Amino acid sequence: MLDAVRLRLAAAGDDATPGGVAAALRAQGRLLGDTEILGVVTALRSEMVGAGPLEPLLAAPDVTDVLVNGPQEVWVDRGSGLERADVGFADAAAVRRLAQRLATAAGRRLDDARPWVDARLPDGTRLHAVLPPVVVGGPCLSLRVVRTRAFTLEELIAAGSMDAGTARLLRAVLDARLSFLVSGGTGSGKTTLLSCLLGLVEPDERIVLAEDSAELRPRHPHVVRLETRPANQEGIGQVTLRDLVRQALRMRPDRLVVGEVRGPEVLDLLAALNTGHEGGCGTVHANAASDVPARLEALGSTAGLDRAALHSQLAAALSVVVHLVRDRSGRRRVAEIHVLERGRDGLVTTLPALAGTERGPGWARLAALCERGRAAQAVQAVSPAGTAAGRPR
Ligand SMILES: Nc1ncnc2c1ncn2[C@@H]1O[C@H](COP(=O)(O)OP(=O)(O)OP(=O)(O)O)[C@@H](O)[C@H]1O
Ligand SMILES: [Mg+2]
Repeated sequence: MLDAVRLRLAAAGDDATPGGVAAALRAQGRLLGDTEILGVVTALRSEMVGAGPLEPLLAAPDVTDVLVNGPQEVWVDRGSGLERADVGFADAAAVRRLAQRLATAAGRRLDDARPWVDARLPDGTRLHAVLPPVVVGGPCLSLRVVRTRAFTLEELIAAGSMDAGTARLLRAVLDARLSFLVSGGTGSGKTTLLSCLLGLVEPDERIVLAEDSAELRPRHPHVVRLETRPANQEGIGQVTLRDLVRQALRMRPDRLVVGEVRGPEVLDLLAALNTGHEGGCGTVHANAASDVPARLEALGSTAGLDRAALHSQLAAALSVVVHLVRDRSGRRRVAEIHVLERGRDGLVTTLPALAGTERGPGWARLAALCERGRAAQAVQAVSPAGTAAGRPR
């Protein structure tokens, strides 16, 4: 019935107003009551402007991901793993229409020539869509809801994502301006934690963010957000994360942040952190904190940096790795905090400073780094050049 109404409205050039819909229904020989007509109007409108049948899911406060595998197969994550959602589409064509409309809303194309899209919707929601035959079966949609407000540390403690001791340690890492990476698997809450931590940065510091899709939303009064851009249809105009990191360095950042380190920008980030841009941070995909050096090595090698050079940069550039996991119950939490250490062979490894609530062999080193950082801050605060502008960079 919806299809017939849609066609009729399109043919008549009418909008999905109650009058237009009633006329289209009448023309089909259907007589419906006011409530039914309004139901049809709402369904058509959300299909035309919103996320269609996914709208109520995306609007629910606890939903983090909505995945569409087929017209009758919609999954949702409400914080405790995936569950089947009680909504559906008329057919695969309706899923395809929604995917294309969302892609258009994000300013991208999605068609047979460009069968996938990875973009951000105007409200911040992250959209991935892929069309057959690249995906076998019907079109597939993955939506990640981004919270408009960052969690506070207290909220993360209340949610069971960390205990008060871990929160204190993270605050000390921020205060001492140590550079750090938040690591973890897909969807483990890296971006969310980084957003929260950036909210702890002193208000007189300038934060410059470089991201593939602008997801970080720190509660901080002084933030500049840079976002990459794909090439246009003629293949020009691409802006990469590398470009952004280089631009960010010219923008007098007190904290340089790379949303997600996943390519050659690792070189620019490490170089920046080595040249006085202390306190920088970012996220990286890794299965464990101890895997981070190898992961960065792999990223660096794709950009042509050899192992020894990368490790020597890494040793001086990065101090701490905060690792997140998502446990079986679906809860996202800080699993371990490691500190970086360079061995006799020149290679960097990580030492656990905190694993769960247990102090590890790296604890003393991390405490010393925090102490040294805080002392350096204090010296600057009392020296004549100790304004924010006087900080070394
Ligand atoms: N501690 C938390 N408690 C509750 N929800 C959380 C928590 N951390 C993250 N989330 C939610 O989980 C979803 C995924 O979080 P986030 O985007 O931060 O993960 P990520 O590790 O950066 O993912 P990706 O690997 O895709 O970059 C988001 O919708 C976010 O709001
Ligand atoms: Mg992320």
